[in-house]
Amino acid sequence: MLIRSTSHLPAILFLLFAAASLVCSSTPPAQELLRGFTATPDPSVSSFQSLLQDSTGNFSLGFLRLNSNQLALAVLHVPSNEPIWLANLNQLVRWSDRTQLLFNGSLVISDPITKVFWSTETDGNRVVLLNSSNLQIQNSNASPTVPWQSFDFPTNTVVENQNFTSTMSLVSSNGLYSMRLGNNFIGLYAKFEADTELFYWRHRALEAKANIVEGGGPIYVRVDPDGYLGMYQNGSTPVDVEAFSSFQRNNNGFLMVRLEPDGNLKGYYWDGSTWVLDYQAISDPCELPSPCGPYSLCTPGSGCSCLDNRTEISSGRCDASYPDNLCGVDGGESANNFNVLRKNGVELPFKELITYQTTSSQAECEGLCERNCSCYGSVYNNGSRFCYLVDYPIQSLLSDGDESKMGYIKISESARKKKITAGLGVGIGLLGGAMVCLIAAVGVGSYRMWRRRRRVKRMLEEEDGGAIPGPYKNLGSGSSRSIEMT
Ligand SMILES: *[C@@H]1O[C@H](CO)[C@@H](O)[C@H](O)[C@H]1NC(C)=O
Ligand SMILES: *[C@@H]1O[C@H](CO)[C@@H](O)[C@H](O)[C@H]1NC(C)=O
Ligand SMILES: *[C@@H]1O[C@H](CO)[C@@H](O)[C@H](O)[C@H]1NC(C)=O
Ligand SMILES: *[C@@H]1O[C@H](CO)[C@@H](O)[C@H](O)[C@H]1NC(C)=O
Ligand SMILES: *[C@@H]1O[C@H](CO)[C@@H](O)[C@H](O)[C@H]1NC(C)=O
Ligand SMILES: *[C@@H]1O[C@H](CO)[C@@H](O)[C@H](O)[C@H]1NC(C)=O
Ligand SMILES: *[C@@H]1O[C@H](CO)[C@@H](O)[C@H](O)[C@H]1NC(C)=O
Ligand SMILES: *[C@@H]1O[C@H](CO)[C@@H](O)[C@H](O)[C@H]1NC(C)=O
Repeated sequence: MLIRSTSHLPAILFLLFAAASLVCSSTPPAQELLRGFTATPDPSVSSFQSLLQDSTGNFSLGFLRLNSNQLALAVLHVPSNEPIWLANLNQLVRWSDRTQLLFNGSLVISDPITKVFWSTETDGNRVVLLNSSNLQIQNSNASPTVPWQSFDFPTNTVVENQNFTSTMSLVSSNGLYSMRLGNNFIGLYAKFEADTELFYWRHRALEAKANIVEGGGPIYVRVDPDGYLGMYQNGSTPVDVEAFSSFQRNNNGFLMVRLEPDGNLKGYYWDGSTWVLDYQAISDPCELPSPCGPYSLCTPGSGCSCLDNRTEISSGRCDASYPDNLCGVDGGESANNFNVLRKNGVELPFKELITYQTTSSQAECEGLCERNCSCYGSVYNNGSRFCYLVDYPIQSLLSDGDESKMGYIKISESARKKKITAGLGVGIGLLGGAMVCLIAAVGVGSYRMWRRRRRVKRMLEEEDGGAIPGPYKNLGSGSSRSIEMT
């Protein structure tokens, strides 16, 4: 037996060598990048080209292909292919051999002929990816100081142990929603048109264990591996603890919190095979900033319909458009630049964050809106006499059933047939695909939570479909809403 196998030794050694060289021929991604490093995108790579790995192999920095021929520098969670950080989201570059990533002290994305697209503007010695997913530029080996780290420039996601401070913001992949910190709260904001911002969700610090001290410095938040979103001022005792489902359950899955394209803030943990939904800021879909799209009605527990009861909601949208001109003309409705839709039994979502005035009648409330060139509509409460003016492009109103709440809505004179514009479809690139996978994976976990609201969810999926990451460079100007509005 022994003799026989020894006689095969050369062959076995050869096979081992062959196998080893096979493995090694595809060079594994580096563990650090030093000055002089350059890389260009490989035309044969269809999704992600890894350039740098963390020590566990769970995270990777590389070129992420988006919209088929564009590129973002991204940190990916490798087991799920989920991008958790993007460098150049405001200016994607072409997936072409003229595009180059280099490290010369700064990490730079450039096109040698035209320009520098993105740069960390640092003077460091090396680039490393920590096992926390934090990409760092460090400038000495002995006791590294860190002139730059990706944790300070989050995209739409914060991961566990990442500090989110009052100077940062999260922006959803479609550019519509953002998260920022106030002096004692976490705020979510929507941008449905260029110069107005809608404040739609606020979580104030409870200050149960520690108080926020005025003048004691800005607050920051951090996802704690024990399953909560902690808010801190300058001490280690949180001024607020927003518990996730996994709170104190010791499940030790890697946690992240993401501002989703529907405007919800969600927490997930990685259970080794999928991202499991662990937290959502807004649990009632009707309280999302635009669950059913423009000029719609969201009925809790039942779903989406249109404000104009003569129209049907189709492909998740109501067939109505905003007036080009909101200015009313003195001398009666017929002369106005818009039509008016009146609907009773409606309520503004998150109205506790919207200022109101008191008027003596519905007519007076409507009058305030009618002549105001930035007012899209009003809701008058005939009981409390509160008059709410809507100064953002009207999205979904809540169906309330209380007929004393009276909606007055400006709407375009000619109901224009809207088509899904090509621009929306183009955006669904690889990141879109990855998000769809995440949504699908998460969907399984959250199915039970949502089952009771299945009809709403069906509509929401349509909404998600339209809102999946568009070309990032269109941020601000070319969101799906502004496409409709132009
Ligand atoms: C690094 O390269 C960029 C792009 O070529 C250049 O603008 C920058 O000055 C360089 N920095 C250093 C320290 O050489
Ligand atoms: C991550 O890195 C830290 C510090 O280098 C180390 O203490 C920790 O054990 C690492 N975690 C894993 C999972 O490798
Ligand atoms: C987060 O902030 C805490 C407190 O200031 C600090 O100790 C910790 O190092 C920070 N973490 C990171 C990853 O920067
Ligand atoms: C931290 O907060 C305390 C009050 O709790 C305050 O007296 C102190 O000045 C703060 N320190 C800094 C550095 O802001
Ligand atoms: C990292 O990889 C290990 C196995 O190598 C796995 O157990 C762990 O869940 C991974 N962590 C993340 C955040 O993916
Ligand atoms: C639509 O609503 C108006 C009043 O809001 C009502 O008079 C009308 O009957 C409704 N039409 C349909 C088709 O439900
Ligand atoms: C018009 O409405 C907006 C939004 O409600 C309000 O801020 C503004 O003061 C109003 N303008 C006038 C002239 O009433
Ligand atoms: C509004 O309130 C007034 C007085 O409280 C009442 O007379 C009127 O009928 C109410 N209108 C509606 C539509 O509920």
